[in-house]
Amino acid sequence: MLITGGAGCLGSNLIDRYLPQGHEIQVIDNLATGKRGNLPPVPGLTVIEGSIVDKALVDKAFAEFAPEMVIHSAASYKDPANWEEDAATNVMGTIHVAQAAKAAGAKRLIHFQTALAYGRPHEVPIPVGHPVHPFTSYGISKAAGEHYLAMSGLPLVSLRLANVTGPRLAIGPIPTFYKRLKAGQNCFCSSTVRDFLDMEDFLGLVDLAIAPEAPTGIFNVSTGEGRSIKDVYDAVVAYLGISPEREVPVVPPGEDDIPAVVLDPSATEAAFGWRAQIGFEDTIARMLAWYDAHGVTDVYSHLAAPKKD
Ligand SMILES: NC(=O)c1ccc[n+]([C@@H]2O[C@H](COP(=O)([O-])OP(=O)(O)OC[C@H]3O[C@@H](n4cnc5c(N)ncnc54)[C@H](O)[C@@H]3O)[C@@H](O)[C@H]2O)c1
Repeated sequence: MLITGGAGCLGSNLIDRYLPQGHEIQVIDNLATGKRGNLPPVPGLTVIEGSIVDKALVDKAFAEFAPEMVIHSAASYKDPANWEEDAATNVMGTIHVAQAAKAAGAKRLIHFQTALAYGRPHEVPIPVGHPVHPFTSYGISKAAGEHYLAMSGLPLVSLRLANVTGPRLAIGPIPTFYKRLKAGQNCFCSSTVRDFLDMEDFLGLVDLAIAPEAPTGIFNVSTGEGRSIKDVYDAVVAYLGISPEREVPVVPPGEDDIPAVVLDPSATEAAFGWRAQIGFEDTIARMLAWYDAHGVTDVYSHLAAPKKD
């Protein structure tokens, strides 16, 4: 199994799951947002520190390792103004992965897609057949990457993900509120709604998607239940057992933000016989218990900061 972006949040959780099951895993990661420390020096795991933008590096890795299963988890998003890097990694890098996987005889390609590829939805929950109209650098480049993967002709499962929540998550409102509230700092909530999926439920679906006879295609992976960012804030406050002095301001979404992103998982449920099992409160509590044990590191966002006035 070859995992691009294996030093990242989802990639490292996949390694934690599949290495003990006896999979040989090769990682390609340039550590743009991933961490070397997420990749322990253990038997069965080899790591190439480099970029998927480097075609020669990608071709060599795939030719030597000849993976049957490719999980493409590398993506660029950390600087919304850096269109070049997003396009280089998410388009060119993805093309390199698709072509090298094909040349190496890979049997299946798993890809993770952002809900931002849908752009501003005209229907919520967003069905998987909704048009793709991204308007951010991350969304545009990831959408193009998904199209190229589909053109490769390899059996492809592209999973359009809700906000996956679990070990090593360092993006979005949960780590932000946890870190700031613990430090006694003020917070604000954007008046937006998201769909939070526990890592365990996500991993359960990937287990099904990597099976040789599993369905292929594009699937939403989500609970289908929308919760506001204020709900997340309230859950973190309750978990920490604190009483902030001021009411948290709820501000309109930033210009590049989307008011409600909730994905309709019904077609995925029908195809895989899968359904998210862990509810919102438990998902948040499990995440916060992980931060209690491990702390929060850098917090990234693929959105510009919302206007606060
Ligand atoms: N976590 C979520 O909830 C979520 C939601 C939607 C989509 N996704 C998608 O899932 C995938 C994994 O996301 P994540 O949350 O684990 O993010 P992450 O930032 O933790 O992981 C991405 C990894 O890709 C690596 N990377 C970036 N550019 C690279 C390059 N040019 N070459 C090699 N490696 C490179 C980073 O260093 C990092 O380790 C991404 O494709 C992302 O678009 C994630």
